Amino acid sequence: MLSCGNNSSETTTETASATTTETSKASTPDEVTIELGSNDQMQYDKTELTVKAGQKVTLVLTHTGSMAKSVMGHNFVLLKSGTSVSKFAAKALSANDTEYIPEGDEMIAYTKLIGGGESTSVTFDAPAAGKYDYICTFPGHYALMKGILTVE
Ligand code: CO
Repeated sequence: MLSCGNNSSETTTETASATTTETSKASTPDEVTIELGSNDQMQYDKTELTVKAGQKVTLVLTHTGSMAKSVMGHNFVLLKSGTSVSKFAAKALSANDTEYIPEGDEMIAYTKLIGGGESTSVTFDAPAAGKYDYICTFPGHYALMKGILTVE
């Protein structure tokens, strides 16, 4: 008698518990922070900014210069599409009581005016896809201090 010690070695083919490590969709984050610098030479450090539609955007404006805001004040004013930058800037000139933020509905978002060594921020919902002008409304600044925010 053949004691066929046939202990049927079952080949345990356990597929390592199918690790469903879904790379939690590296899609668009809900929120984004953008840094924008400015200086005593009446300049922003970026003339192009990009965000995605639907994002909550926090824009941090920093003034790395040393001049007072009464002389070299900077802000960030984002304009609705279709707004004439030159007309809006002209209107802002006379809004000196409100630090050059005029009344009206042309703005999507804006920061307060800051001087050298200061920073400020504003949080807003990114508008629909498109291109939007941003400027500093301090008198005489928008010619140099302007840029385009692209919403993808
Ligand atoms: Co300025």
